[in-house]
Amino acid sequence: MTVFISEDKILEIKNAADIVDVISENVLLKKTGKNYIGLCPFHSEKTPSFTVSPQKQIFYCFGCAAGGNVFSFIMKRDGISFPEAVRMLSRQYGIPIPLQKMSDAQNRRQSEREGLLGVNRHAMEFYHQMLLNPASGEQAAAYLEKRGVQQETIKTFKIGYAPEGWNNLANFFLKKKMPLDTIEKAGLIVERGNKNGFYDRFRNRIIFPIFNLNVDIIGFGGRVMNDDMPKYMNSPETLIYNKSGSLYGLHLAKQTCREKEIAYVAEGYFDLLALHQNGINNSVATLGTSLTSEHVQIIKGLVGKDGNVVLVFDSDDAGIKAALRSIGIFLNAGMNARVMVLPSGYDPDSYLLEFGKASFLKVAEKAQSIMSFLMNALIEKHGLSVEGKIRVVSEMRETLLSIEDRVARSLYIKDLAERLEIEETAVLEKVRDASLRTHGRDERNKFSNHKFSGDDSKNGFPNTVKQRPFYSKWEKLELQIIEMMVQFPTILSEIEERRILGLFEDKRLKSIGQLILSHKDRLDASLADLINLIDEKDQKSIVAAMAIAESKWDYAACLTILARFESLRNKDKKALIKKIKEAEENNDYELLAKLLSEKQKMAVLTEKKKMTLLK
Ligand code: GTP
Ligand code: MN
Repeated sequence: MTVFISEDKILEIKNAADIVDVISENVLLKKTGKNYIGLCPFHSEKTPSFTVSPQKQIFYCFGCAAGGNVFSFIMKRDGISFPEAVRMLSRQYGIPIPLQKMSDAQNRRQSEREGLLGVNRHAMEFYHQMLLNPASGEQAAAYLEKRGVQQETIKTFKIGYAPEGWNNLANFFLKKKMPLDTIEKAGLIVERGNKNGFYDRFRNRIIFPIFNLNVDIIGFGGRVMNDDMPKYMNSPETLIYNKSGSLYGLHLAKQTCREKEIAYVAEGYFDLLALHQNGINNSVATLGTSLTSEHVQIIKGLVGKDGNVVLVFDSDDAGIKAALRSIGIFLNAGMNARVMVLPSGYDPDSYLLEFGKASFLKVAEKAQSIMSFLMNALIEKHGLSVEGKIRVVSEMRETLLSIEDRVARSLYIKDLAERLEIEETAVLEKVRDASLRTHGRDERNKFSNHKFSGDDSKNGFPNTVKQRPFYSKWEKLELQIIEMMVQFPTILSEIEERRILGLFEDKRLKSIGQLILSHKDRLDASLADLINLIDEKDQKSIVAAMAIAESKWDYAACLTILARFESLRNKDKKALIKKIKEAEENNDYELLAKLLSEKQKMAVLTEKKKMTLLK
């Protein structure tokens, strides 16, 4: 049973678990002024930009924009969910969590979840028995044997067989008197086009149940036994199954990953089985998707933050593609990843079958760090002619851009330049070009003052925040108003009464403002909670950065800004009226209609404001 944890309990645990205390277990913190600083555990850096505020009980990294309260820290550190983090701290600080009833909505969700898990377990048993029973599974068993899958492996992984025919599974569930709509929700049967009953999704396929860490069955993969297409079919995404957060073999890899602090990541079901059969149990496989940051967080939870990941690829080309995509994910997660490439034509499955474990591990030993693999492989591929060098740099630039840590990025740029024997500034230029094209002009800041060492935190915002594209006078003022709301909550009633947020143009900033207003009464105590309520990463780091910075506001300064903002808004209105006149003169009715509707919106706002003044 899942236990519902009350808000009160969460608060109690949070109060007991002092953030400096908790973080000190992992990070060497030094006191500076009101805050503590240290080297960020979530990305690699040489100068500390990881800040902890004991007063506000929040942390924030000015390098990678990770931030939040003590729970967010644990979640990120261990790659676990919020309730798991709460439970971990509750144990550590000796605050027991009482059993409590869940709300109706929670109950419904929970029972839907359990329903799906139950259905999947029945289906797994059905498929597994179909394979074990020679009457139905003879051919499938022969296929597995031919592919070197041992009997014991079939049992451990609960491998099964979905027989030929359209109704085997549906009939199995009908006999059990189980409602077909849940079976459909689990993705095991599919409704016929004319709403005329259902048919089995998996037919005449080898079935691989997919387990999560709790050894629940969250989905299935099915392989044909010949050359039919598609070769593999997977369960659709459901309430309990999302591909980008699931790894095949995870439940069996957990223990060994923790012990060895290394995880092998392969790409296919059979590869995973082969790794296990060869005693390389600390292995998982992605399920036909590329590696996501969710995957990396899960793996990090298993091998620890100093642990190692070895990505296994079946060719340089596959490796290059995957490395280009995933290098940023690993770096930003502060994880070490290496790439091992098998000789062309082999995947882990066929390699292990032919050459065995010792030989495989020898190749693994030669695995290079993901970045140096990438540079070498691209140089190998394109050569060191002028054209080759240009290609290498242009294939690398998106990847270099995806690295959030400036120091790391500049070191890699330097490394690449050295390997290519070209000027560092040339690489820098190329990367900057790409940045301008994809991210707009404000990204320029990222590369200003050569080598990223420029002090562009003059206005008190860290780089990560200042880089966001807020261009106009408007938006700068709006940003300042949010800042005063966070740093000087006394001003909140003024902002509410004058309906300042109604004048906001930037929707993201407006929604942050609204969130702050709705937590007005307990803002001091719960800044970190507020940060956690914000879903979007950009918005989160804006507020976190503001919250952790020293306040520079007093009442008068706030009022000045508010007055400026309102008066700019009015000037805007005059400009609008001028445009309307022009459009009338030019008989531009399309533009006129647009301008008039803008004016309408503005009038509503002004009216609202008058009403509040009259109150
Ligand atoms: P075998 O051919 O049986 O050895 O499988 P493999 O795992 O070596 O296949 P491959 O390297 O082609 O694919 C790797 C993984 O990608 C598979 O294990 C599947 O998870 C996924 N995959 C491959 N082909 C398909 C497909 O046609 N559809 C889907 N949905 N996934 C696929
Ligand atoms: Mn294979």
